[in-house]
Amino acid sequence: MKGLILSGGRGTRLRPLTYSLPKQLVSVANKPILHYVVENLLQAGIGEIGVIISPETGEQIKKSLMEAGFKGANFTFILQKEPLGLAHAVKVARDFLGEESFVMYLGDNLIGSGINDLVKEFAGKNPDALILLKEVENPRMFGVAEVGENGEILRLIEKPEKPPSNLALVGVYLFSPAIHQAIDRIKPSWRGELEITDAIQELINSGKKVLYHKLERWWLDTGKKDDMLRANRVVLDELQGRKIKGSVENSLLEGRIIVEEGARIKNSRIRGPVIIGRETLVENSFIGPYTSVGDRCKILRSTIEHSVLLGEVEISGVEGLEDSLIGRRAKIIRGAGVKKVFRVMIGDDSIVEI
Ligand code: DAU
Repeated sequence: MKGLILSGGRGTRLRPLTYSLPKQLVSVANKPILHYVVENLLQAGIGEIGVIISPETGEQIKKSLMEAGFKGANFTFILQKEPLGLAHAVKVARDFLGEESFVMYLGDNLIGSGINDLVKEFAGKNPDALILLKEVENPRMFGVAEVGENGEILRLIEKPEKPPSNLALVGVYLFSPAIHQAIDRIKPSWRGELEITDAIQELINSGKKVLYHKLERWWLDTGKKDDMLRANRVVLDELQGRKIKGSVENSLLEGRIIVEEGARIKNSRIRGPVIIGRETLVENSFIGPYTSVGDRCKILRSTIEHSVLLGEVEISGVEGLEDSLIGRRAKIIRGAGVKKVFRVMIGDDSIVEI
């Protein structure tokens, strides 16, 4: 079985962050979402992995995956010149996929479980498609499934105005090669894309075996700031124990905390779950629960909680930063006498002086 990760597209929803960083590379607990996807595939024994990339962000995606040094992964990068839909991406990957079954995995989807059980179920039941469904509050934003009383899938609709259920399609799909003929038969949707949802519907219409599995654990389609913060919270919640590789001086550490190599914590208090990236300096500060501080950041005389700081961020003199998502190399510097709680989403390379 092969893997196909979709890491193309435009990714406009996480702006301003995604002006300069593809959304698949935004970090949750200091690890790019895309890396969780690769880990899940490898864990399920899938090392032959095609990666769909776009002309705009392809080089960054390639670099990030190659530098991560995943053991047992053999990547083939496949350029999709325009984001013409998920089924279009499968079409572009046709030579790579050959006549093998494959897992198609959206590069911006994060799920709380691995995919081992799904891969086993697929091998055992031998369907043409096995999809993953999850109950959600806002089904209009997703592909939605209508299922029958006997557990069969009746209908799939992409982003319906009137959703027939609250069961959304999660971005992990297992296919037999029959999906290629189904894709050849569908037409672009109202949004001009070749939808994988329509291709699966086409499989159902032509009498092929389409099964579903309900995801019981969490799933995050990391589109917006609050989704990112939630993802960060959920992943940090699963952090086990404490790993201190950096140096800690005259500081109080409580709960589950990771301090990466080269990081320095001085005269500060950290209450986990928290992760502090490599070569980051935290001095005279408080870092509260559910905070991920990226590599090479500087936090001076500040209090921060429930936030995600990507790499090389500098926060100085800011007391009361919470629920915030801060892009790479951004700086927030507070002048004397200003006291307030801040909730911000700041893109890469910004400077905020208060
Ligand atoms: O996240 C789950 C949802 O993903 C499903 O519920 C929907 O049925 C499915 O259509 C998809 O919807 P989105 O509109 O959220 O997909 P998005 O355009 O965000 O693309 C998902 C990923 O695929 C993202 O990492 C970019 C990549 N992509 C997207 C398109 C349209 C490609 O690589 N090529 C493309 O042409």
